[in-house]
Order: sequence, then C-alpha cells, then structure tokens
Amino acid sequence: MWVIGFDEPGGPEVLRGFDLPEPAVGPGQVRIRVRAAAVNPSDVVTRSGLSQPRYAAVNPPYVPGWDAAGTVDEADPATGWRVGDEVVAITLPVLDGGGAYAEKIVVPAESVAALPAGRDFASAATLPMNGLTAWQALDRLALEPGQSLVVTGAAGAVGGYAIELAKHAGLQVIADAAPADRDLVRTLGADIIVDRGAETAAQIRAHLPGGVDAVIDAALLRDEITPVIRAGGGYAALRTAQLSGGVTPRPGLTVHEIFVGTDIHEKDRLDRLSELAASGVLSLRVADVLPAEQASEAHRRLERGGVRGRIVLEF
Ligand SMILES: NC(=O)c1ccc[n+]([C@@H]2O[C@H](COP(=O)([O-])OP(=O)(O)OC[C@H]3O[C@@H](n4cnc5c(N)ncnc54)[C@H](OP(=O)(O)O)[C@@H]3O)[C@@H](O)[C@H]2O)c1
Repeated sequence: MWVIGFDEPGGPEVLRGFDLPEPAVGPGQVRIRVRAAAVNPSDVVTRSGLSQPRYAAVNPPYVPGWDAAGTVDEADPATGWRVGDEVVAITLPVLDGGGAYAEKIVVPAESVAALPAGRDFASAATLPMNGLTAWQALDRLALEPGQSLVVTGAAGAVGGYAIELAKHAGLQVIADAAPADRDLVRTLGADIIVDRGAETAAQIRAHLPGGVDAVIDAALLRDEITPVIRAGGGYAALRTAQLSGGVTPRPGLTVHEIFVGTDIHEKDRLDRLSELAASGVLSLRVADVLPAEQASEAHRRLERGGVRGRIVLEF
C-alpha cells in the first residue's frame, strides 16, 4: 500500500511516497481504506523531528497523521464493524497501526466512529483529533454552565471546536479574532470577541474585571494570556512546556497539559463528536482538498499560517 512519510525529519520537502506492506488486522482491530487524512500542526511537529524521541525505537519511514476518514476494509467480526462501513478514526502517527497519511491503517475499534451522517470523507477527517483535544481541555477544566472561558486561536481547528463544545455545555465564551476572522468566530458562537494581538488581555479584563474562570490557549500565548485568569482558575496548555515553553507558575493557577494521545481510545467521545457534527453543533471546516502526493505543499501552506479550516489529503 501507498503511504506518505519521511525517513529523515526536516522541511516539507522530506515528505514523499513509500510502498509498504498492508498492515494485518488483529483481535479487536479494524482496517480502514483511508479516503481523507487531515493535515494538522502536530504533523508538522512530527515531520520536523521535534517529537522524534517518542518514536526513537521505530524504523523509518515515519508516517504522520492523526485523522482519517474512509471505509472499513477488514475488521475483527467481534468489533461489530463490517466491510464498507463509512467511518472516521484517530490513530497515533508513526506508532502502532501507523499514521493516517496512508492508503490503509489499522486501529483498535475504540478509535473508530461512524462517519457523521450526511458528511463527506474530507469534512469528517477534520473532526477526531481536534474534537477530542477540545473535549479533553474542557473536561480537565471542569467548568460549570455559566462560567467563563477564554479561547485563543479561536479561528483555528481546536479553537473552533472548543468554542462550539463550550457553548453546547452552557459556558460563556470569550474569543480572540483578527478583523478578517470576526464573522467566523461569531458564527462559531463566541459571546464576546476581542482583538487578536497586543490588546487581547486588556480587552478581556475590560469585559470581565474579576478575571475569567479558564483559558484554552490554542494560540500558545502562554504568559501573555494567563493574567486574565482569576485566582483558582485553570489554563489548558496545548503544547507541553518541553516542546514550546511553559507558563510562569502562579499560586492559584492550575495548568493542565493537554495531550490527545491519551484519549485515542475514548470511543464514547468519538461517537458523540460524530453525532454533534451530524446535527450541526460542530462545524466541519475544510480549507482545501489536495491529492496525497501534494503533502509537501499542504505542509508549506499550513506553516505559512492563515489557513482557515483544515487542509485534507485525498488517498
Ligand atoms: N496537545 C495536544 O494534544 C494537541 C492536539 C491538537 C492540537 N494541538 C496544538 O494546538 C495548537 C492549535 O492547533 P490548531 O489545529 O487549532 O491550529 P490552527 O488551526 O493552525 O489554529 C491556530 C490558530 O491560532 C492563530 N494564532 C497563531 N498565532 C497567534 C497569535 N499570536 N495570536 C492569536 N492567534 C494566533 C492562528 O492564526 P494564523 O493562522 O493567522 O497564524 C490560528 O487561527 C497547535 O499548536 C497544535 O499543535 C495540541
């Protein structure tokens, strides 16, 4: 089968096609003929080698990609999945059944949900990783309806799902936006929109002088944004301090380091995300669909910034 991967980390140009043996299906597993794989910032981290210590024991080629949508190609009958079922799935890049930039992946049944009804493969591929990430952040922050949440990087994939899930849970959402993203962020459901940039924290304080209950920091603003959090509040960090710097600790501030890799078997959440996407509570946003051979170009575009919605590779 054909995959997109790399044998030495580096720039977007290291991504290329490889022919690999088809992965076998084991007990409790499902093989998916991937039709669409989303291109995420985490794939750039994988490709550039920053997360390589995690897979030091794996032989190249390394295959990135967390998010896949496609059809079941073979399944352990005990899983209940049947050949031809249309599904979305999350997979650990490089490790286990391999990354999603592949014609076929093998994943445990807990990492598979039905394709959101009425949605195509490309849209559905944008859901699992970032939906589960936003869910984990909200779960760890454990806010009650009516409490306030700041979402930075609100126009991005994690930010968008965080806003929509938070509104669905009855939270008050304050989100940042560049002028060109205001309409989008309003449509996603933010109650208060502040300017992205140097004035973000000051504008949030003007709206909520007592401080907010929590922040999901998808823009990685770190110490620029933590001052808006009230004593006893929470901060969801989207990248570990190791990977890209931490926040300055402060008494009364709880920092939650989010890692979606711990939730790839949360089938109930994946099922629920699929239902919420089908019913329109969650917006599936696709920036572009490119043939998988153009993975390098997809990474270049993502790294330039300004992409709204996910770029999706078609297999
Ligand atoms: N820990 C985990 O398990 C986990 C899981 C998923 C994602 N992540 C991380 O979470 C972050 C967000 O992911 P994503 O998929 O949502 O990325 P994304 O779709 O690229 O969204 C990030 C958003 O932040 C904006 N932004 C960048 N710099 C900013 C700044 N200084 N001020 C305000 N906004 C800024 C970007 O705008 P421009 O495009 O205009 O720059 C973009 O709208 C990434 O770092 C990703 O690696 C972590």
